[in-house]
Amino acid sequence: MKICHQVSELRKLLGCYRRDGKSIALVPTMGNLHSGHVRLVEKAVGLADIVVSSIFVNPMQFGRNEDLDKYPRTPDADIEKLTAAGCGVLFAPPASEMYPLGLDEHTVVSVPAISDRHCGASRPGHFDGVATVVSKLFNIVQPDHAVFGLKDYQQFKVISKMNADLCFGIELTGVATERDANGLALSSRNGYLSAEEKQTALTIIQTLRQTAESIRNGERNYTALEQQAKTLFESRQMRPDYFTVCRADTLAPAVADDKNLVILTAAYVGTTRLIDNIEVNL
Ligand code: PAF
Repeated sequence: MKICHQVSELRKLLGCYRRDGKSIALVPTMGNLHSGHVRLVEKAVGLADIVVSSIFVNPMQFGRNEDLDKYPRTPDADIEKLTAAGCGVLFAPPASEMYPLGLDEHTVVSVPAISDRHCGASRPGHFDGVATVVSKLFNIVQPDHAVFGLKDYQQFKVISKMNADLCFGIELTGVATERDANGLALSSRNGYLSAEEKQTALTIIQTLRQTAESIRNGERNYTALEQQAKTLFESRQMRPDYFTVCRADTLAPAVADDKNLVILTAAYVGTTRLIDNIEVNL
């Protein structure tokens, strides 16, 4: 696997591949890779001749009181995993390469409406940070394909809208959430959880599954289902951020006639904020 730290060297390398007629798939990450990321790379290997993965803990998508400094960084283990999964090129820029003048003067890409709900409401500016860095990566790599995990369901929708609105013309693929044997969605932030908190966190997927089942069985009082879920979280010493039954296309609150739904949730287990979701197609 070739490793580039600078935009210019990556462009030069990818230019050679492109001149040879090779197609390119991009898998953007923030590192600390787990088997969910490995699935994304494996998916990308099946889509294009060359897989480029990026590792960049993007400061623009972290709020002031969030975990930017303590976000886990495991470059050596990540390189091993990417190599084994068939990644051809790693782009791992320092912050000074991506934001040479710092964050304050940098152009911001903002995807309206869909960025404002759910995680966007709790983490103001988060999706602007994601859209900005992903659009930079799209422009730097100019991939034919890009692959993202569907655990970050809202992120995938924001990026899909940006890709359409700004005519990037990249084929986007969302890959199903990878879970541990108990159902907990794999996340780099799971590393912050104690063994007891990991057990508590299973409430998230259990509640999503129960709520999905109630909807499939005909329940249409979504407000009541949302309230029940949040009460259950609280009874297990978790702090719900949101638990919402949404339309899968716009992520607006679902109404009784909607057929393609997604239930999105974020909750704190101790001080760790976890997100998860489940699709329900009626
Ligand atoms: O999902 C992530 O890891 C990040 O939000 C992404 C897409 C790499 C942008 O920094």
